[in-house]
Amino acid sequence: MSKTSLPTKLEIVEGLMQTPPAISPKYFYDARGSALFEQITRLTEYYPTRIEREIMATHAAAIAANVGTGCTLIEPGAGNCEKAKILCELIAPACFVAVDISEEFLHQSVKELRLALPTIDIRAVAGDLNREIALPADLPRQQRLLYYPGSSIGNFDPAQALALLSRMRGLLDDDGALLIGVDLLKDLAVLDAAYNDAAGVTAAFNLNLLQHVNQLTGSDFDVAQWRHLAFFNSTESRIEMHLVAATDTLVRWPGGGRSFVRGERIHTENSYKYRVEDFVALLSRAGFPRTQVWTDERGWFAVMLARP
Ligand code: AVI
Repeated sequence: MSKTSLPTKLEIVEGLMQTPPAISPKYFYDARGSALFEQITRLTEYYPTRIEREIMATHAAAIAANVGTGCTLIEPGAGNCEKAKILCELIAPACFVAVDISEEFLHQSVKELRLALPTIDIRAVAGDLNREIALPADLPRQQRLLYYPGSSIGNFDPAQALALLSRMRGLLDDDGALLIGVDLLKDLAVLDAAYNDAAGVTAAFNLNLLQHVNQLTGSDFDVAQWRHLAFFNSTESRIEMHLVAATDTLVRWPGGGRSFVRGERIHTENSYKYRVEDFVALLSRAGFPRTQVWTDERGWFAVMLARP
């Protein structure tokens, strides 16, 4: 019997049947998808990871001074805990709570981190950002720092982003803060190249979604019949990723199926690009009226420290 839960199958099938069809980007991240994403972050064209790391290194002293030591650091979507390790070394928190959907993967990362940082109380919590995050009951409420790097916030539409930031505010007392990475609006050629890399890694990442969906739902997508498409939608200020049917094609899954005509698209991801002032305003609406901003010299990416 398949291990996939009924709600997951239903959600995917509903998305495929809607007009226009869509699949949630959360299904990118099976083992191969996660490995492809790591490859993306090392591509020359994919600037966000590199520039965010540069900003954190250039402004390390200022960030550390503003955050202080001894806080309770919480990272939703911590994954391999690579970024958290750097931040832990910089700000020496008393405790680090790594939250991620993928429990197995998280436990492994946390095990390694405990060996590297033996003086910090490190905890792993299985949690989905799209729902309420249940933190350990004994976790101090004072001096919490939420860490949300990588511009993952860009993958939510503005209404969802506001809801998520407001939920994050709910996890903090008035002395808490949020350290967040935000990808900024820039030259369209730079944005285009970042999601259409020459080596085709982003295309493989996008197409792998169909393989994962086949595995989750029992569908029979023929990946060879689909093409990667990414472009900037300037009205919405977002990169959109789609999968385009290269031929008329019929896709079946247990209990149903649908046909796609050549050129028809499945919407797979949005990646919003913000102007600094617009994101600062969004933070304020979510209950973070005081924000410090650090950017790189070209203003491609921002690291923001937002406070209630
Ligand atoms: C995870 N997220 C911030 C990435 C982004 O840039 O929106 C996902 C990604 N999609 C294609 N390339 C990278």
